[in-house]
Amino acid sequence: MEGPYRDLGSGFARLSGVEGPRRSPSRISCVEDALLEMLRNARDAGASRIFVATALRSRRYRTLTVLDDGRGVPEPYAELIFEPGVTSRHLSPVRDGENTPHGAGLSLYHIRQAALEARLLHPSSPTAFHAVFDTSRLPERSLQSPTRPSRSNLLATCRAFAARNPTLSLHHGTPAAILASLLHNRIIQGGSGREVHRAARRLGLGISLRTVQRVLRGEVRGAGRMPPGEEGTGGAAGGGGRPGSGPVLYVGEEDRARIADILSRAAQASYLKSGELRLEARPGEVVIRVSVYEPEEEYDHY
Ligand SMILES: Nc1ncnc2c1ncn2[C@@H]1O[C@H](COP(=O)(O)OP(=O)(O)OP(=O)(O)O)[C@@H](O)[C@H]1O
Ligand SMILES: [Mg+2]
Repeated sequence: MEGPYRDLGSGFARLSGVEGPRRSPSRISCVEDALLEMLRNARDAGASRIFVATALRSRRYRTLTVLDDGRGVPEPYAELIFEPGVTSRHLSPVRDGENTPHGAGLSLYHIRQAALEARLLHPSSPTAFHAVFDTSRLPERSLQSPTRPSRSNLLATCRAFAARNPTLSLHHGTPAAILASLLHNRIIQGGSGREVHRAARRLGLGISLRTVQRVLRGEVRGAGRMPPGEEGTGGAAGGGGRPGSGPVLYVGEEDRARIADILSRAAQASYLKSGELRLEARPGEVVIRVSVYEPEEEYDHY
């Protein structure tokens, strides 16, 4: 990063001339932007594993918890990094071709300005950032369409990032699913329900003791690693059928009920709920639609 800076020690600096950037338009214009900056920060800190837990409360407040196994932030800098211009990248700005080179020390500042709260909850092993956004103030792209699932674009942000950074192991899910992954990956050690509950809350996973116990009983499926190199919606193209032409498959009531049951159980295993099944048999294809949503009432409030 060119230009003068003031050395803050331990590899940190405050870039001078921050008054301009402080007044400049925020680079965070939706929740997905905030997530992307947090993912970049984790990657630039040398993380090989990143875990993203998201939940929507009262259909309005989005919580984002990003955990990584990178080098972490020295304790005395936990608050300083949210100030404009404070960075550890002044000597080697990162150019990753995603956008402008970064290293201006502005993303966390802008995230905190756009959020109801944004904090570094745990400085290292794992590093844990937690932010809560009021989506009626800072939009979330997916929430603008009532027909789309509530997490699709945060998920898409993670998928695209995983595709661009294939060596990273990236996991995305509900706080409960992420807790299951953290236990599985031994990032959190197992223990009694209360111990694990405490550990989870320290990292910003606001889940109830009851949910923690369900995780410990193995009833919640962990958030698996996102497949690298699969940008977009993913999913393999099917066999030989051509939608729009071909035979129409008759699906009877009993089969519909079975499919609904399978999806409901799959949702439960990921600690989600599923809505009514809509099944449409068209020439050459069967279209199944089920809404899935997060059972909010199971989470603790901060
Ligand atoms: N996950 C993380 N692990 C370790 N250090 C981090 C992490 N996230 C942020 N930091 C530290 O906080 C500093 C400030 O982060 P911030 O995103 O605000 O600015 P930046 O990444 O330096 O530049 P930019 O404004 O382009 O994002 C970083 O330079 C880095 O030292
Ligand atoms: Mg950054």
